Parts: sequence; C-alpha cells; structure tokens
Amino acid sequence: MGSKRTARSRAWIARQEKDPYVREAKARAYRSRAVFKLEQLDKKDSLFRRGMVVVDLGAAPGSWSQYAAQKVGPEGFVVALDRLNFPPIPGVFQITGDFTGADIQQKLNDALGARQPDLVISDLAPNLSGVQSVDQAAMEDLVIAASRFAWSCLKPKGVLVAKLFEGSHAMGVRNQISCLFRDCQIRKPPASRSHSAEIYLVTGGPIRQTITPLAP
Ligand SMILES: C[S@@+](CC[C@H](N)C(=O)[O-])C[C@H]1O[C@@H](n2cnc3c(N)ncnc32)[C@H](O)[C@@H]1O
Repeated sequence: MGSKRTARSRAWIARQEKDPYVREAKARAYRSRAVFKLEQLDKKDSLFRRGMVVVDLGAAPGSWSQYAAQKVGPEGFVVALDRLNFPPIPGVFQITGDFTGADIQQKLNDALGARQPDLVISDLAPNLSGVQSVDQAAMEDLVIAASRFAWSCLKPKGVLVAKLFEGSHAMGVRNQISCLFRDCQIRKPPASRSHSAEIYLVTGGPIRQTITPLAP
C-alpha cells in the first residue's frame, strides 16, 4: 500500500515537473495551474469585465480568485469560498466553510449584501474516492447546489461557469441546469488534462419567468 502510494506520488511529481502550465503558473505567481482553465474559458466566452461582482466557489488554493481580482480591478468585488483555509488574496473577501450548508450560503449572501453577482465561477470538486459512480454523484450534488445558488442571486444577464464530470450523469445534470439558465454550453479548455473527466458548463443568464395571471 505504502509503496503503491509512493509510486503514485513520484508519478505525480514527475508529471508536475514536466507540465508547462505548472511552470507558467509559477512564473506568473499563480497558486495553481487551474488558472489557465479559467483564462482559456475567459478568452473563449469573454467572462470578465472591470467592476464586476464575482463569486468563486471551491476557491482554494486561490488561482481563480487571483485571476478574477486582477480582471475586475479595485472597482469590482470578489468573494471566494472553500471548506479549506487558504492564504489571503488582496481584493478578495474569503469565507471558509462547506458550501452545501445553509449557514455558509447565508454568509455568502451577507458578504454580497446588496450586490448581485455578474459571474459565479465554480471549480467545486469532491475528494475523489476512485469509485466512479460515487464520485459522479458527489460532483452532481455540488454542481446542482452551485447552479441553484447562482440562479437565486445572479443578475439577469449573469453567467455561471461550473465544473462537472463527463459521463452518464453529465447529460442529466446539463438538462437540469438548462431549465434554470439560458444557453448552456459545454467546454473542455486545453489546460484541463485530457485524461481528466472534468468539463465546464458555461451558461447564459438565469431563466426567471414572470407568470402573468390569467384574466378574470
Ligand atoms: C479543484 S479545487 C479548486 C481550485 C481553484 N479553482 C484554484 O484555482 O485554486 C476544488 C476545491 O473545491 C473545494 N470543495 C469541495 N467541496 C466543497 C464544499 N462542499 N464546500 C466548499 N468547498 C468545497 C475543495 O476544498 C477544493 O479546494
């Protein structure tokens, strides 16, 4: 068991050393190579503008928040949430806790106050068990929770970006989220490793139909 784990961590270290995104993240002082997935999604879908209000879910160690804070500038607002503590990022309001808890979502809403987000970015991912069906189900719960939260608070033309896992569940999840948001697109940014099941959903604004009462 121990030697298997050592072999796995050696392989991980070797892969990290060879990875050009890891080197570039270091050179540009980003905390993780994950930043390049967001940068590539941004290049494709023009996600960010200065002055935006952004919520970053599953933010640790913080590279997406670093990128968001740079893009929105000091006139914007970034709130980042993770169950893990991570070192502060200038210009980012951080919350520690489990996103699936109602108390933590209330903390997020309190931090936003009267501000409505323009963009909710979710890189939330469960700790992987290695059992595909278990991991898919845990991912599904997170992405559905993120999309419900985003639906409840985004501006009418706001955008949700959320990670999910490709597989038998993905179409069902996409269909559920399509009921809440216009124009759900699936993206696989080049920085996302080809052997990884992760894909990203990029949506248009939330669908909040106003029901016209029937005439008497
Ligand atoms: C892939 S990492 C995010 C990387 C991040 N986007 C970055 O650029 O540094 C996924 C994160 O989701 C967090 N996470 C998973 N489930 C969570 C939950 N229920 N509540 C809060 N955070 C959670 C994990 O702690 C982990 O830090």
